[in-house]
Amino acid sequence: MADHQHDSSLELEDIGTNDSSNTHIGELIDARLSRRQVLGGGLGAGAAMVFGTLPLVGCADDDDDNSVAPAPKLGFTAVDKSTDDIVVVPEGYSYSVLYALGDPIDDVQPEWAGDGTETADSYLKRSGDHHDAIAYFGLSASGEWSPKNSSNGLLVMNHEALTTIYLHDAYDNNVAPRDAGQAQKEIYAHGVSVVEISKNLAGEFEVVRTSDFNRRVTAQTPMVLSGPLAGSDWVVTKYDTNGVNCRGTVNNCANGVTPWGTYLACEENWAGYFTRNAGDAAARTAAELELFRRYGIKDGAAGRHKWASVDEAAAGVTDERFSRWNTSATAASADLDYRNEHNTMGWCVEIDPFDPASTPKKRTALGRMGHEGCWFAPAVAGKPLVAYMGDDSQFEYIYKFVSTQNWNPADVNGGHAAGDKYLDSGKLYVARFNNNGTGTWIELTHGINGLTEENTLFPFDSQASVLVATRLAADAVGATRMDRPEWGGVNPRNGEVYLTLTNNSSRSATNAANPRVYDKDTGSSTTSLNGNVNGHIVRWRETDNNHAATAFAWDIYVFASRAAYPAYVNLSFLDDSNDMSSPDGLWFDPRGMLWIQTDDGAYTEAIATDDTATNCMMLAAVPGKVGDGAYYEVPTATGTQPTYVGKAPGTDLRRFLVGPVDCEITGVCMTPDNKTMFVNIQHPGEGGTLPPTLSNWPAGGSARPRSATIVITRDDGGEIGIA
Ligand code: FEO
Ligand code: CA
Ligand code: CA
Repeated sequence: MADHQHDSSLELEDIGTNDSSNTHIGELIDARLSRRQVLGGGLGAGAAMVFGTLPLVGCADDDDDNSVAPAPKLGFTAVDKSTDDIVVVPEGYSYSVLYALGDPIDDVQPEWAGDGTETADSYLKRSGDHHDAIAYFGLSASGEWSPKNSSNGLLVMNHEALTTIYLHDAYDNNVAPRDAGQAQKEIYAHGVSVVEISKNLAGEFEVVRTSDFNRRVTAQTPMVLSGPLAGSDWVVTKYDTNGVNCRGTVNNCANGVTPWGTYLACEENWAGYFTRNAGDAAARTAAELELFRRYGIKDGAAGRHKWASVDEAAAGVTDERFSRWNTSATAASADLDYRNEHNTMGWCVEIDPFDPASTPKKRTALGRMGHEGCWFAPAVAGKPLVAYMGDDSQFEYIYKFVSTQNWNPADVNGGHAAGDKYLDSGKLYVARFNNNGTGTWIELTHGINGLTEENTLFPFDSQASVLVATRLAADAVGATRMDRPEWGGVNPRNGEVYLTLTNNSSRSATNAANPRVYDKDTGSSTTSLNGNVNGHIVRWRETDNNHAATAFAWDIYVFASRAAYPAYVNLSFLDDSNDMSSPDGLWFDPRGMLWIQTDDGAYTEAIATDDTATNCMMLAAVPGKVGDGAYYEVPTATGTQPTYVGKAPGTDLRRFLVGPVDCEITGVCMTPDNKTMFVNIQHPGEGGTLPPTLSNWPAGGSARPRSATIVITRDDGGEIGIA
């Protein structure tokens, strides 16, 4: 989701709904011991933290193998910042566009016309808009997951949102009542694509339009709820009075790839799509009102695209496909209306790309939030599976899920049956970051940690209630409020977990893990404070490298910053080759190379002290480990703020790509041979007009801009990123 200033409306993630009194990171300092006594640090001098020796772990499913390959070394020349309407890749690399908005996924639809004249229904067989997270699954000859196949596979990606002005012919400008055809096209242009891709005779990937695997999942696709919430009163609707069946997924941001070969599409800013009638509050229970408050659906909310405003009678619609986006109490009871429709959103949705007829499953045991994505630790036979998740909104939390069942590698290619086994039963935890560099995972299970019916925040009378109100459960147990948790990933070389905290313009207080509050123009931390404008990346190591552990040690891998900012803001000593802002996408490739993508509005401004503006970008890194840096005290308006800064990355962090104008770079994956990279360019020129004024990427000329997947290769056919 864009942070761009051109957005017509404020995004929920940028506002936040967490007004709990929970301490933000670092307000949790253990006052019984002086920090300097514990850490031996001095102002600015930076005594190294003591975390002990970090054991390396194998990255595969053999935990007896403690050997790891040598760390990869970056082997390309960093690209410069750019404001051009092109994609910039390093010297010796090339890219091509593989799959863009409106591209057919069958051999029936005509090519995208570029003028918005495609029908709504055609989008069931075309690429959706706003490409986001992406995953490559190698395909075997028998149509199963073949993790080693680098020449033929299924590409699965999210279509998070829309640039409506370029989607339609004669856009109705979002005026209610909405045009039924336009609303339908918008619903179909959301969701997920599954497309088979294969190398042609020239060795270049192309979409196999005749493939039976090709599929669009949309905001209207029938789905089922699975796990503890399924069948509960919270999700009873007129569509299914048993509370199991539901429709669609929306605002799918980041993703997850399960160890058994399915895809998780995660629902991020879903709340903004719902309409609530003014005065609905009078008809709702106190618990229902708490859910609306905490997930951000206001009484009188119009809904982002006002789909509920379509005149269904005039359009001949009888299945309430539009009106169900109004989540108000309009009838006598929940089985007669869609008051609970919003509770069917906010989940991780499992899609089996290898079974095009399968019904996606919403895995409710993983909690309900503004799900950015879901990232698994390496699966180890005989051990529980562990997945990490971020809730992307200001001051929200970081979570992890630990499966009840231990991993059995025989479940690879097990489809939804494996999902039922591992994702419907387990423990959900939320993170508390302590000021002394340690952290705790707090279990969100009904009946413990105060999560009972008597809780004053919410009546947690069952695990279903804990899950539908995950944010409130996390509030109740004292989780640490964070600066917008975005993507995460596990370093396959040492098991450490990284997670981007993209920015937080609303924070004024500082604390150990969010130690910077500064002026966006000058970087001054003592005047005109604008919050944490540029974001940072936190990382942690679980105790004994056991991902199911309930304690960890953390530091800050990198502080995003303009190179020109003062050293106490540019704490990672970024320079022109690697300075960045608002890290969002993050992915460890199997070699242990870290890829960082930005969704930024703070480095695109021309400002007085530094006019080296740039479009959004992707960087590559070979990171060190928790504790490789130093203790440091950041000067603030009121004193100093201690923190733990990872070793400055130097040339082990380099800018690899810069995108076209007014885009976000999000979603990255590679073929298993590390020789082909897929990157998504989201919403180029989204703030533009008709005719397009900001961007014409990728076609150039006067064309409408399109979100698209690009393919990056090395001209000499070598592995991406290394020498
Ligand atoms: Fe859709 Fe959190 O970015
Ligand atoms: Ca973002
Ligand atoms: Ca994102």
